[in-house]
Amino acid sequence: MAVVAAAAGVASGANGGARAPRYRDATEPVPVRVADLLGRMTLAEKAGQLAMIHVGRIRSESDRQELFAQDGIGSVLSGAGEVPGTDGSLIAWARGVNDLQRYALDHSRLGIPIVYGADATHGFTWVRGAEVYPQQLALAATRDPELVQAIAAATARVVRATGVRWVFGPVADVSRDLRWGRYYETFGEDPQVAASLTEAAVRGTQGADPARPAAAATAKHFVAYSQPEGGRDTAEVRTSPAELDDVFAPPFAAGVRAGVASVMNQHGWVNGTPTVASKPLLTDLLRTRLDFDGVELTDWGDVENLFCGCQGAPAVQAMTRVAADYEHAVAAALNAGAEVSMVPDRATEFTTAVQAAVRDGLVDVSKLDAAVAHILTLKFRLGLFDDPYVPEPAPASVRTAEDRALARRAAAESITVLKNTRGLLPLRRRGPVLVVGPDTLRRQDGGWTVQWQGVPAGTTAPPGVTVLQGVRAAIGARNVRTVANWRNDAAVRRAASRARVVLVVVGEEPYAEWQGDSATAALAADEARLVRVVEATRTPTLLVLVSGRPLMIAPLIRNADGFVMAYLPGSEGGSAVADVLFGRVRARGRLPFTWPASIRDVPMALNRRLDGREATPLFRYGAGLTP
Ligand code: BGC
Repeated sequence: MAVVAAAAGVASGANGGARAPRYRDATEPVPVRVADLLGRMTLAEKAGQLAMIHVGRIRSESDRQELFAQDGIGSVLSGAGEVPGTDGSLIAWARGVNDLQRYALDHSRLGIPIVYGADATHGFTWVRGAEVYPQQLALAATRDPELVQAIAAATARVVRATGVRWVFGPVADVSRDLRWGRYYETFGEDPQVAASLTEAAVRGTQGADPARPAAAATAKHFVAYSQPEGGRDTAEVRTSPAELDDVFAPPFAAGVRAGVASVMNQHGWVNGTPTVASKPLLTDLLRTRLDFDGVELTDWGDVENLFCGCQGAPAVQAMTRVAADYEHAVAAALNAGAEVSMVPDRATEFTTAVQAAVRDGLVDVSKLDAAVAHILTLKFRLGLFDDPYVPEPAPASVRTAEDRALARRAAAESITVLKNTRGLLPLRRRGPVLVVGPDTLRRQDGGWTVQWQGVPAGTTAPPGVTVLQGVRAAIGARNVRTVANWRNDAAVRRAASRARVVLVVVGEEPYAEWQGDSATAALAADEARLVRVVEATRTPTLLVLVSGRPLMIAPLIRNADGFVMAYLPGSEGGSAVADVLFGRVRARGRLPFTWPASIRDVPMALNRRLDGREATPLFRYGAGLTP
């Protein structure tokens, strides 16, 4: 009995009364609280802290019972588009997160709160009405850390209002291969630019004091994720120690310098080893050389994949299994340096495997303790033990006028003018200007907006401004024309012939992860045709590309009078395009990548082919005119 009393931390005070355990005392330093709590935890409770389960898996009372009361899971995430409440409104989010928190606390012997995590790389777009900021690649074209920090801070404000405290971003990968479906999620090709913007994003998300973060940021995806074989998401990466040091590690190092709370490993394999089971990467590089002391988080299903190859992209599923069973998979990951596992479905199997691995001596208990100490430290620093619930938020705080202005400024500063002949730009404010093409908000927003693959076709996108709307607002609707069906060549030809200038808006439909891999990076045939039809009219033509990667459209650009890269500019993209074209904002975006002249030259970065062979890019890294 004495042992139990000591373990439960019930000490006698001077007056003979029971004193609350030290870990509950907010005046104690965090390391003291962590050590005190860790000392009271059973093996099963420790294992639970390493399990992160996605909220789509928590549907019924029996799911809750199983996951919280039985498995004691330490964290919950919203996979892209998943919401914890009855709908996507801010208030439903906050209620949903609070509800899960209450259940978790009520069923935790030691009163350990959960921490809730989600992606938020360009605004917290899973909340209805939230601002959709430009994607990271666009922000890289601004080279402006203050802007990136401001956007991360504005995003974190909404994140916090929902009760979410763990943000899975920024993306610290360096772009290397434009065929890769996650190219637009990066801060571009220059490791130093990516480093400074990663650092800014971490500071924006976490606030000034990493010891008391407003929300935890995550630098992802460690490491070299952006250079998969053939540009296929999660395919094996081949790299050298020098390339790791010079290209891939710097943004993570910068994140660590800024006090990033967590680092997420990448899904795939590097030089023959799954990253999640790589001690050279997760321990020797991340912990020892980069000096990271926060939480290591696996990506979705990575540990399970070590033995079953059953989660995620086809490329990773197809890889050889390296562990005989879950217990050995967990052992390989924990011994390499993995900590919290985005399981994401079956907690019991995971926590059982962790316990078995420790009991069978495959994992030293000190290893488990260190991992649990990291996640508990994060929870204490986030204030979750002392203040586990989020106050009911005011709906008006979702999208403020300042948010819109910030998004517009960021998009305008990113827009990159790459061709301007015949003094076309800035455009004069008289008509008729024809705006034609698949000019939609869902394209501007890109993937990871509302849903994983972007705003579903046929549904209403978050509020925003298309290029047509932006141009109308800039020069008055009576000066602007469009064609209802841009695939109707005759109608386009007619309208273009009557216009003073034509803005052709083309690009890509939204995509995410491997679904966005493209072997050709070609413009869709009907969009290329539209451009040719307009160009043949000889009316001055300006191409506006709304795209997450440089597309292989050299011949179309050659015949145009002007060419502007708008990236994935988010909800204010149309206003921003108009701002730059009509000279309200001076164009200052600079390409954050090399634009190859041909897909045969890919992969290419910083104006060189990665295989070392000679190639002349269509536009060099850093290109951008200021008309
Ligand atoms: C992605 C991560 C993301 C996670 C949770 C994974 O598939 O690779 O970037 O944070 O899902 O949504």
